[in-house]
Amino acid sequence: MNQDKSKIVYVCSECGYKSSKWFGKCPNCGAWDSAVRIEEGVQKGTPSLINFESSTSNISIPKRMTTRMKETDRTLGGGVVPGSVILISGGPGIGKSTLAIEYASALTDYGNVYYVSGEESISQILMRVKRLGVENPRLFLSSEVNVDAVLSSVKDKPVAMVFDSIQTLYTSGMSALAGSVPQMRECTMKLIDYAKSNDTAIFIIGHITKSGSIAGPMILEHMVDGVLYLEGEPRSGRRILRSMKNRFGPTDEIAVYDMEENGMIEIPDPSKIFADIDTEDPGSTLSVIVEGSRPLMVNVQALTSVNYKNGAIRITRGFENTRLMIIAAIVSSHLGISLDNRDIYLNILGGLKTTDTAIDLAVAMAIFSSVKKLKFSPKVAFIGELGLDGRVRNVPQMQLRISEAKRMGIENIIVSNDSKYGGNGVKTLKEAILKSFGGNL
Ligand SMILES: Nc1ncnc2c1ncn2[C@@H]1O[C@H](COP(=O)(O)OP(=O)(O)OP(=O)(O)O)[C@@H](O)[C@H]1O
Ligand SMILES: [Mg+2]
Repeated sequence: MNQDKSKIVYVCSECGYKSSKWFGKCPNCGAWDSAVRIEEGVQKGTPSLINFESSTSNISIPKRMTTRMKETDRTLGGGVVPGSVILISGGPGIGKSTLAIEYASALTDYGNVYYVSGEESISQILMRVKRLGVENPRLFLSSEVNVDAVLSSVKDKPVAMVFDSIQTLYTSGMSALAGSVPQMRECTMKLIDYAKSNDTAIFIIGHITKSGSIAGPMILEHMVDGVLYLEGEPRSGRRILRSMKNRFGPTDEIAVYDMEENGMIEIPDPSKIFADIDTEDPGSTLSVIVEGSRPLMVNVQALTSVNYKNGAIRITRGFENTRLMIIAAIVSSHLGISLDNRDIYLNILGGLKTTDTAIDLAVAMAIFSSVKKLKFSPKVAFIGELGLDGRVRNVPQMQLRISEAKRMGIENIIVSNDSKYGGNGVKTLKEAILKSFGGNL
C-alpha cells in the first residue's frame, strides 16, 4: 500500500552534504551549525506509466544559439543549448550582471528574453542596459523576486531567461528565507523544470563566498547543466570566464574579456596579451599551458633576492605554492644552487591562474635565470613537467602547445625528448639550461 509520506533530511549549507540525521558539525566539510532541515516529498499513490524513447528516434534536437560572442560560445561547447540551465558565479562586482545582460540581449535574435533581477530596481537595470547599448524590444526586465509569480506571468515560451541572483529568489509556500539552502534548491528545481518543459535556456547568477564556493549550495552545481565562473583581478579590467561544468561540452574552456565601460570586450587571441614574447630579462620565461581546448602562451616570472634572516619566503601568484617549493628543491639539488637564503616570488603574468604542470620547466628556468642574472637567448619557450629526479617529462596535448608556440614566433621550443611532435628535446633540467642560454651562459 502506498502512503503519502515525506522524509526529513539535513543538508549542509556549506557543502551540500546530505544526511538523514541532524549533525552539529558537517562530517564532509567540517562546518559547524550548517545543518538545514529539508522536507523531501515522497510520491503519492501509484506512479504513472511512462513511454521510453528509442535511441534511434528522430525527434527534433534544438539547435544551439549564439551569444554573438565567439569565445563564450566556444566555452559553452558551441553556443547555448535551448532548455539548458547555466549557473554564472563569481565574486562581488566582477561583472556577472554585465555579462548576463549581454547574453540576454544577444539571444533576442531567437525570440523573447526575460531578465529578472531581484538585486536592482528596474531603473537601475535600465541604466546598465543603456550604458551597454543592449536595449531591444524583445528584451523584458523585471525586479520580481517571487519565482512562481515570474514563471506564471511569462506566457510566450521565451528562448532565454536570466535570474539575477538565485540568492534573492523565493518560492511561496516555504517558510525559509530567500537565500537559504532550501529556498535556493526549490527555486532552482522550479527553474530547471520550466527550462526543460519550455526549451527555455535559463541563466542563474550565484554569488560566491570568500572561500570561492557558491554561497550556500554546492548542490546547485550538481543540479544545473553548466557552471561558468567569472574571475579576474578586481582592480584590472581583465576577466576570465571558465567553464567548470558542462553537460553539453568540454569543461575547463576559457574565454577572456576586457571589461570596459560599454561592456565585456572579447579577446580573440589571449596568447598575445598573456605573453610578452620579446622579453629577454633574467627571470622571465615563456611556456604554453592548455585550458580546455585553448592553448595559451604565458609569461612565467621569477624574482629572487637574498634574505639573510631566518626562513626564506616563497610567494606565488597564479601558481600553487607547494609546487614552487618542490621545483625550488629540484633546482637546488640538480643544478647545485643553494636557495636556502633566497626569497622567491613567482608570478604568472596577466592575472592568470593555472595548475597545468607543463610550466614546471619554465618555472625552474625562471628561478635559475633570476639567481644567475642570466638573459635567455631570444624566442625560447619551455614546455614540460619536472620530476623529482630532474628529468623533463612529456605533457599531454604537446602538438597543440608546440603549434601555438610556433604561431607566436618562438624558434627554440624546449620540450621533453619523449615528445613526438618536434621541438628541441631534452632529457634533464641541466640539458635544458645548456640548450636555452646559448652563448649567454
Ligand atoms: N559607468 C561605468 N563605467 C565603467 N564601468 C562600470 C560603470 N558602472 C559599473 N561599472 C563596472 O561594472 C562593475 C559591476 O559589474 P556588474 O554589476 O556586472 O557585476 P556583478 O558581478 O553583477 O556585481 P554584483 O556582485 O554586485 O551583482 C563595477 O565593478 C564597475 O567596475
Ligand atoms: Mg550583479
